[in-house]
Amino acid sequence: MRVIVTETFAQACEIAAGVIADVVRKKPDARLGLATGSTAQGVYPYLVEAYREGKVDFSRVNTVNLDEYVGLAADHPQSYRRFMDENLFDRINIDKTRTVVAKGTGDLEANIREFRLSLGQKPIDVQLLGIGVDGHVGFNEPGRVLCDGAHVEKLDQSTIDANARFFSSREEVPTQAISMGMGDILRARKLLLLATGESKAEAIKGLLLNETLDAQNPATLIKTHPDVTVILDKALAKSVGYVY
Ligand code: GLP
Repeated sequence: MRVIVTETFAQACEIAAGVIADVVRKKPDARLGLATGSTAQGVYPYLVEAYREGKVDFSRVNTVNLDEYVGLAADHPQSYRRFMDENLFDRINIDKTRTVVAKGTGDLEANIREFRLSLGQKPIDVQLLGIGVDGHVGFNEPGRVLCDGAHVEKLDQSTIDANARFFSSREEVPTQAISMGMGDILRARKLLLLATGESKAEAIKGLLLNETLDAQNPATLIKTHPDVTVILDKALAKSVGYVY
């Protein structure tokens, strides 16, 4: 596991965007695994900038997102489809028919079948990850066992509380999500996990300060991956006592 500690969160985002852009430059029809949330949101402006400056071409790229809330239609202001359109897809030259975000409404079983089919079609070249306060990646919440493939996940109260800031009230936060499984994430060729903020300290400790794999902290499973880069800012590194 490669760990990069940056002075600022902005620098962490710029490095993460640089890694993604490099993957696309080397493989113009790459499959990008993308993430939502405020951490990932810091990365996309750098990709948009690289595109505007002619440094990267997304015309042959295809993407698949980690997850989507159950119950939010694609056009809901807090749906992850809308997040992706607004933060990235509508700002670059990607063919949106080649972007996959699981559908959160309608026949969930059919949606999961479709999502699984898509995940099986083409390997992910690089998967961007944030981390939840409880160590979730995608929406794989802590538990006795973790799922291999795409599934519906019941969200933990701490996740609902953390994501309530995006909704007008806590009651509006969906309680379930469709998520890639841990296996789907670990099958990506390259993993890029980005973290910032003191609320992530406990989860990051489990990832960086010991060698255990803990289903109660799903992010720890990425330690088994042969090509993983963790990027965090100095403030978070210091708060967990990570020596770099
Ligand atoms: C969300 C997403 C995750 C994200 C995480 C952290 O609920 N499902 O993919 O990494 O929680 O979000 P944030 O970056 O906003 O703290």
